Amino acid sequence: MRICMIGTGYVGLVSGACFADFGHDVTCVDKVPEKIEGLLAGRMPIWEPGLEALVKHNAANGRLKFTTNLAEGIAGADAVFIAVGTPARRGDGHADLSFVYAAAAEIAGALTGPAVIVTKSTVPVGTGDEISRILKENGAPEGTTVASNPEFLREGAAIRDFKIPDRIVVGAEDERAREVLREVYRPLFLNKAPILFTGRRTAELIKYAANAFLATKISFINEVADLCEAVGADVQEVSRGIGLDNRIGPKFLHAGPGYGGSCFPKDTLALLQTAELNGVPMRIVSSVVEVNDARKSAMADRVRDELGGALDGKRIGVLGLTFKPNTDDMRDAPSLALIKRLQEGGASVVAFDPVGREQAEPMLPGVTFAADAYAVAAEADALVLVTEWDEFRALDLKRLAASMKGRQLIDLRNVYDPEDAERAGLSYRGVGRGEQRG
Ligand code: UGA
Repeated sequence: MRICMIGTGYVGLVSGACFADFGHDVTCVDKVPEKIEGLLAGRMPIWEPGLEALVKHNAANGRLKFTTNLAEGIAGADAVFIAVGTPARRGDGHADLSFVYAAAAEIAGALTGPAVIVTKSTVPVGTGDEISRILKENGAPEGTTVASNPEFLREGAAIRDFKIPDRIVVGAEDERAREVLREVYRPLFLNKAPILFTGRRTAELIKYAANAFLATKISFINEVADLCEAVGADVQEVSRGIGLDNRIGPKFLHAGPGYGGSCFPKDTLALLQTAELNGVPMRIVSSVVEVNDARKSAMADRVRDELGGALDGKRIGVLGLTFKPNTDDMRDAPSLALIKRLQEGGASVVAFDPVGREQAEPMLPGVTFAADAYAVAAEADALVLVTEWDEFRALDLKRLAASMKGRQLIDLRNVYDPEDAERAGLSYRGVGRGEQRG
């Protein structure tokens, strides 16, 4: 199969590289010349485990090409994937589709024969219909069709998620689109990945419903964590106790500082917009967003409380800045809201992140960046673990305690055992770990 991938962001680059690895002939197109030049030289625009090796290997074999020239990229393509960004529109949270529609118009003018145009970007219900209209209006060849193929990969585990997906969703309105996409994904059928063929609008909605449901699980367990603290229960055991029920499942029940990243915050807002436009209130999703927003700022209050009620003049060490481990992505990271509030309260912040510094530094004015976790702890009044990078899982707690000025360890990811921390001389506060009573 000849595949063209428009957009070399997270979804586009990972999907393009994995399709090439399946043996397809893939050309990735991006408008930003620096990105393409970098990729041609083997430099990745994002930090994702395993991606560099996969891209280099397939580029060397000639199956993965990069260009800024869209016409060159789509010449002879059986399938053209649109994987450009759909950021939240300023003001109303609606997904900004201008990049998607611009790509559709350009594709229409450049196609030399019929192809299947597939949206991989997360797009609101009905976007496929509009793309279809744009293609027609701009003279796309007869027989060109539009399908929806949402992507469910997670940052940090993107290649594995792409190659061993829980499911593949294809929304199409015609047999040709289904045939082409069946062929594109055939290598995965050997692993028995379930493929769900459905209508285009349904596929578009599946993506939003999946992300909103996962976000709901997180906000739910975060509220349960607050209750655990109030009543003297342990949220980790509550998660395990409910997660062993097959109907609930154990995943996405880790209490923490609230969800962040490029997807859940944006997609929940966009879903609410779609719901409102269609006169269907989605009160659960709306509460999920509200709970998450409140949670991010509540984390700073937690630090303040642990410091006896005042942040002014305190030195606070922050471990981990990215929205989760194994990525350099800082979009909507809980660390941003936390640090801003700590600074507003008069605290000075010292931070370390294993890979996020380059992205984080411009977003965090006034923060001092340290070389490692121990340097963060030196002379700190409190230490806050925000992102559960592996290298923060087995720190020498005694060494940390010895170099700190204060004793407070606020573990927003429940990485440490409270008793171990106390034994090392730290005063420990996790999330949802209420004091056991009598
Ligand atoms: C998410 C979905 O998991 C993917 O399936 C989806 O494809 C992707 O969005 C997308 O729409 O592109 P991602 O944003 O990469 O993936 O990261 P997740 O692993 O889902 O984590 C999101 C946030 O939730 C992080 O801030 C994480 O710390 C938080 N989280 C996750 C929790 O607080 N508790 C949990 O139990 C799980």
